[in-house]
Amino acid sequence: MFKKIIFTILSAILTSSVFAQTEVVADQSGSVETLLYVVIGLVILISVLVLLVAIYTLFVVRTILLQEQVKAETEGAEIVPEVSIWKKLSKSLTGATPIEKEADILLDHNYDGIRELDNHLPPWWKWLFYLSMVWSVIYLLAYHVFDVLPSSDQEYNNEIMRAEAALEARRATMTDLFDETNVEVTTDATALENGASIFTRQCAVCHQADGGGNVGPNLTDEYWIHGGDIKDLFTVIKYGVPEKGMISWESQLGPGDMRDVASYILTLQGTTPANPKAPEGELYVPPVATEDSTTVEEAIPEVITEEESTTAE
Ligand code: HEC
Repeated sequence: MFKKIIFTILSAILTSSVFAQTEVVADQSGSVETLLYVVIGLVILISVLVLLVAIYTLFVVRTILLQEQVKAETEGAEIVPEVSIWKKLSKSLTGATPIEKEADILLDHNYDGIRELDNHLPPWWKWLFYLSMVWSVIYLLAYHVFDVLPSSDQEYNNEIMRAEAALEARRATMTDLFDETNVEVTTDATALENGASIFTRQCAVCHQADGGGNVGPNLTDEYWIHGGDIKDLFTVIKYGVPEKGMISWESQLGPGDMRDVASYILTLQGTTPANPKAPEGELYVPPVATEDSTTVEEAIPEVITEEESTTAE
């Protein structure tokens, strides 16, 4: 029975401290809080054990006393009526003077027949009072002197910080917010790295690892079949040109991945691949440098007329 009780209490305390631990992760004051929970848990555990031992001892003492009494009875001694444990307990808690002794503590004053007893304060009340004094010292030291525990203010700030970090993390994953109408070139290093790895994995078969072109066109030159703007690239990658062998990647790559790989392709502009495929499509000049229109027309290769007629169909 005892073992069962102790085991239950022990497991309850252990699980509660585990919960406390998981709750306060990623917080500076977390380890201190966890320690506090463990200490409180241990104190509760020890108090309960002490209580159990005390009750057990009481039972043992009672049994011995009963045996003594039986012995005394057989020897013909006078039997003193036994006071029950509950009466003793209530007496030690309330400290009340028994009614038959009240005369001893009656005060002299007599207010129209109303008399006053000079009772002590009940011990249970006094102990509560002493405990609250001890607690106030612990509280003062913990919260205001050594700052080992967070004040309400700090707790609030900690929570705000945690929430902001979570929001930041969520924002970073919310790349679904753009499509071909509003996509922008990214220069973020990790995004370009992601784009590069997607390119070597999924696109290099047809475009070559260096973008020089194979089944697919050369992506390092300034000539584009479908336009050289990030939005054009995004559109081609997203919807593909199935009849020409460029599949739609919408189902395999998220908007973030498609933006990353398109941005990566644009970084290949002006590089010299090992086996460049002949330019296909139109010379794409970024909007900032459009004055040189004559060279654009001259530079248009023959393929373009054929290309234009196919797209016009
Ligand atoms: C199975 C071969 C194949 C694979 C794999 C492939 N492409 Fe293509 N890609 C092509 C072909 C063929 C074209 C030319 C389409 C056309 O003529 O309209 C093309 C065109 C393009 C264009 C437009 C080029 C221009 O001149 O306008 C881009 C951008 C592009 N691909 C990006 C990618 C990306 C990014 C991947 C990987 C996610 C990829 N491609 C994977 C075959 C492929």
